[in-house]
Order: sequence, then C-alpha cells, then structure tokens
Amino acid sequence: MNVRITGTGSALPGKILTNAELEKSVDTTDEWITTRTGIKERRIAADGEYTSTFAAEASRRALAMAGVPPEEIDLIIIGTVTPDFPFPSTACIVQDLLGATNATAFDLSAACSGFLYGLSIAEKYIRSGAARKILVVGAEILSRIVDWQDRNTCVLFGDGAGAVVLEASEEADHSLLSTHTFSNGAHWNLLFQQGSGSRNPATASRTIDERLIYLNMEGNDVFKHAVRGMEEAAVRALNANGLSPADISLLIPHQANRRIIDATAKRLGIGSERLFINLHRYGNTSSASIPIALDEANHLGILKPDSKLLLVAFGGGFTYASALIKW
Ligand code: UT7
Repeated sequence: MNVRITGTGSALPGKILTNAELEKSVDTTDEWITTRTGIKERRIAADGEYTSTFAAEASRRALAMAGVPPEEIDLIIIGTVTPDFPFPSTACIVQDLLGATNATAFDLSAACSGFLYGLSIAEKYIRSGAARKILVVGAEILSRIVDWQDRNTCVLFGDGAGAVVLEASEEADHSLLSTHTFSNGAHWNLLFQQGSGSRNPATASRTIDERLIYLNMEGNDVFKHAVRGMEEAAVRALNANGLSPADISLLIPHQANRRIIDATAKRLGIGSERLFINLHRYGNTSSASIPIALDEANHLGILKPDSKLLLVAFGGGFTYASALIKW
C-alpha cells in the first residue's frame, strides 16, 4: 500500500511580534536577530487561543483540501511540546473539535522533529493496513514556555500549526517515498523544559523561583548538532531512494535558524533556489514549522506533480528525521 498526501493546511495567530517590538522589552536589536537567525517577526497566540485551536483549524483546512469528512479519519497524531494540558492529549481535544468520531488520537513528543516522526508513524499504519486516512499535525504555542526575560531564547520562537491528510493509495506515483527517524539521547539536556514534569513539578516553588519552568537551550551546541543531524537525515533519505541532491526539487527544512538551513543546504549541494524558507515571518515554530512551510509551498503553486520534496528536521532530545515525497 502506498501513502499519499491529499491535503495540507496551516493556521497561525493574527498577532505579529516584530524584532523592533522585542527591542523594547529585552536587550536585543533587530540587527542581531536578523544577522544571527534570519528571523524578522513571529506570531503570538492571544488569550483564549490554545494549541488545540490552531491544530484544529489547520486540520479543518487540510481535510477540506483532501475532501475528507472528519468522521472518515482513522488516526490523529499531533507532534507538540506545548500541549493544551499534560493530559489528556491535545489530539483527543482536536478529535472532539473536528468531530472525528472514529479516530484514535494521541500526541507525540519529539520536539522540532515531531511532525516528521508523526509522518513516519502514520506511514507505517497505512502501509500495514491498520489505517487508511490519517491526520498528522505539528502544533505549538511556544510563547507560553519561553522566558521573556531571556534574550538568548525569547527572540527565536513563535506559535502556529500545520497539518496534512495522508491516505492509502494504490498508486506508487505521487506518494510518500520514505521516512527516517533518529534519536540521540546523550544530549537531552542541551534543549529542554526543566520544570513541570516529574523531576521539577509545576507545584514545587523552586520550579518557579529558579525559572525552571521555561525552555532552556545551549544554542551554540545545538547549532552544531543540528547541521550534522539534518545532513545525516537527508543523506539517509537520498540513499534509501537511490537519489542524489540534484534530483531534489525542493528542500523544506525545519525553520530554526537561517544559518543552520544554509549550512545544511550547502553541505548537501542544494542551491537557495531549491530551498523553502519562511522563518523570517514565523520564527521557530518547532513541530509546526515543516507542515506550515509545506502548506505555504502548496498554496504558492511551487509543488508540481512529480516534484521531489526532501523534508528534514532536528530538535530537542536530540531527535532528527527526514521524509522524501514525490508530489
Ligand atoms: O529548533 C531546533 C533546535 N534549535 C536550534 O536549532 C537553534 C540553534 N541555535 C541557534 O540558532 C543559535 O545558536 C542562536 C541564534 C541561539 C545563537 O546564535 P550564536 O551565533 O550561536 O550566538 P551565541 O550563543 O554564541 O551568542 C553570541 C553573543 C553572546 O554574547 P557574548 O557572550 O559573546 O558577549 C550572547 O549573549 O550574542 C549574545 N546574544 C544576544 N545579543 C543580542 C544572545 N542572544 C542575543 C540577542 N540579542 N537576542
């Protein structure tokens, strides 16, 4: 059985936070953020908007494009590190919001690789015959876990969601060709949210007093691992399909830092004309960045039938992953 993407969707908060506005609240400059990261602005969720709000809206749009009614969905997987609650899963809330009454629903924790991990699991469900129609979503409200007093991290992240509908297909063409996932737990403490789990419970005063509740990152170390990890994941995808970088129509990388993206593309020998970037408008939206980018590329009409898309991600864990798609 083959696996085909039949719909894409994305949803972003309306509120835009520019670098110029950030200059007023932390010791930073538009110039530093632009040259070090490529980010110019990011979206920030409003009060009353939750991760499920954007996940459900992105899903509705993907379902509408696919022409699939919600009750035909067998499985909902949401990659997120900022769920509505520790439990129940945001996927169960989205199931309810969509009326996807016949779906099994669960969240997946793989940080910025969450969407590609979800795609990999969904692929296996469909190929094995366990499911025929699946929603895979990446959704985050990172603005609620970043420390707005920490200039090292607060300028980097943004909120939003992206989704795809995957369907079983008899056609070998226009399908998901492969997915690869990797983990390296040796570096789990270079990018993590220390507080709110069982080690530093949200209920402990020290979690608040020592600011453990917030996202913490050793940016420089993560940067080096990210370039190597994304390259490795991309090469594995190419080799598995007997392809070379010259065969790739579009590289859609996780949008964390323009310099990481450029270094990865350079190592692969993929020029900027085959590189999709929207980081300047949304910042790093973790698991949401690839499905938002895929949906934008789809709506821009740059994904042609037979286009070969290479998707690569890297995130906390460490986790990294790739997917190759013949559109
Ligand atoms: O989503 C998946 C995983 N995440 C990533 O892939 C992100 C990986 N890391 C990065 O993107 C980059 O490492 C950062 C953008 C986080 C930082 O860039 P960098 O070139 O690695 O800078 P740095 O950490 O070496 O810091 C350089 C300087 C420091 O000052 P000193 O110690 O040299 O005086 C920082 O204090 O820049 C300073 N700095 C800032 N200055 C102005 C850090 N943040 C800011 C800021 N504004 N916002």
